[in-house]
Amino acid sequence: MTADVIDGKQFALQIRERVASHVSELIDSKGITPGLAVILVGDDPASEVYVRSKGKQTVEAGMNSFEYHLSETTTQGELLALIGQLNSDTAVHGILVQLPLPKGIDESAVTNAIAPEKDVDGFHISNAGMLSTGQKAMVPCTPLGCLMMLRARYGDLSGLNAVVIGRSNIVGKPMAQLLLRESCTVTVAHSHTTNLQQLLSDADIVVAAVGRPLFVSGDWLKPGATVIDVGINRIENAEGGTRLVGDVDFDSAKSKAGAITPVPGGVGPMTIACLLANTVTACYRAHSLPEPLELSI
Ligand code: GUN
Repeated sequence: MTADVIDGKQFALQIRERVASHVSELIDSKGITPGLAVILVGDDPASEVYVRSKGKQTVEAGMNSFEYHLSETTTQGELLALIGQLNSDTAVHGILVQLPLPKGIDESAVTNAIAPEKDVDGFHISNAGMLSTGQKAMVPCTPLGCLMMLRARYGDLSGLNAVVIGRSNIVGKPMAQLLLRESCTVTVAHSHTTNLQQLLSDADIVVAAVGRPLFVSGDWLKPGATVIDVGINRIENAEGGTRLVGDVDFDSAKSKAGAITPVPGGVGPMTIACLLANTVTACYRAHSLPEPLELSI
């Protein structure tokens, strides 16, 4: 068997097009322009690249982008004051504070200071709680993107066996909650799991988000499984340079799986597309308008 390679770039493009069409409808019929505020503290080069890309794609989708680049020496109090101001700004429908934050700033305190209805990252404890209790939540972007790809492949996911590898608050835990909501039988494995190979042998769906390069061998998969690889790891290649690989050994998995996301070009592009989708959803909810069903859960 040769797995279908799921094209995340193409998928993300489709989501961005849908987002853009909802944005133009909001502008044309209601005079409302969705707005996303992104706060970057410090000068981490990788974070600067992400933030620039988020701003660019926000504007391309027709939304307002409000960018705040604060210095490395910003205090927690100053950051919380800015969040408070954005919480009460009606032109801002989504707020994202880029992580990681400089040492000395408490990430949980900052995340939980964002108004839950504007928390387009879905990191606020109240959104985590609402997701896990089956209420309307803002859903973290990466797991939302993974779910969209799985729904596109299967339609109905009920009864499928899913193994999520990784238990982070950002990916593993919300992913498991989303799959439970879809009536999958969900197992959460992690770096201390001793029988991963056995668990994977019966998994229809594998979501790998453990952050270890090539952690999952293709031989361990159930034939025909769908593999969603969230890992982005840089390793040395044979020529002394580096290359990006996922948590799954793509080459061996490709001959056993039914479908697999590549790294790069799989889950990665979906994250910003889902951030834009969450911003539009937050805008519809803020104005008590019926939200587009295909952009959220
Ligand atoms: N840093 C890396 N990825 C993310 C993300 O999805 N959201 C935030 N806020 N920070 C990040």
